[in-house]
Amino acid sequence: MKETDRWLDRWLPLVKEMTSTVLELGCNAGRDTARLAEAGLHVVGTDISAEALRECARVVPATSAPVLVRHDLREPFPFADGSFDVIVASLCLHYFGWDDTCRIAGEILRCLSPGGLLLCRLNSTRDVHYGATGFQALEPNYYQVDGRYSDRKRFFDRAAIDALFGAEWTRVAVEEMTIDRYEKPKCVWEVVLRKAARS
Ligand SMILES: C[S@@+](CC[C@H](N)C(=O)[O-])C[C@H]1O[C@@H](n2cnc3c(N)ncnc32)[C@H](O)[C@@H]1O
Repeated sequence: MKETDRWLDRWLPLVKEMTSTVLELGCNAGRDTARLAEAGLHVVGTDISAEALRECARVVPATSAPVLVRHDLREPFPFADGSFDVIVASLCLHYFGWDDTCRIAGEILRCLSPGGLLLCRLNSTRDVHYGATGFQALEPNYYQVDGRYSDRKRFFDRAAIDALFGAEWTRVAVEEMTIDRYEKPKCVWEVVLRKAARS
């Protein structure tokens, strides 16, 4: 993976204004975790993969040791309502059927404090090099794939993003972009949303 994918950098000043502790979902081997820790933030990181969490613990400086929790996003989140002011979820919300995807968005909302921020990245339906075309559809824009983390992968268009994040959220940024992360260009949505003060 390339060092060029520093998507969090532009959001760090806002994140630091809001909190000192971030929940990072699907943290994998700690790429964003390390960036957040370098910025002086405490991170609670979750992932389904014990191996990824071990690597994350190895990669992130011991001085800012993240709290790492093995967790399947399809299960209720092991955090109380309103526990976090900021939640980060990069490229980990796309493995699920639509009902599970909506439940996960609901859990994110529940765990955010009123006014809290979600920063996430979602595969775009234009992500043609990484599965958005050529596979058998299980649901609209959700395919049986030959994937590294799952054999199912979802791709989002603007309508799906608006359906997933309804009136309980206000939009800070919803931008479709091509990122330089893997060998070929990858097309994603960078979505930053604020939980309504009362929802
Ligand atoms: C493409 S990686 C993204 C990692 C990291 N957020 C990043 O942007 O570099 C997807 C991550 O989602 C995790 N994942 C896949 N299915 C999951 C599930 N059901 N629950 C929790 N994490 C899951 C994988 O183990 C993997 O670490």
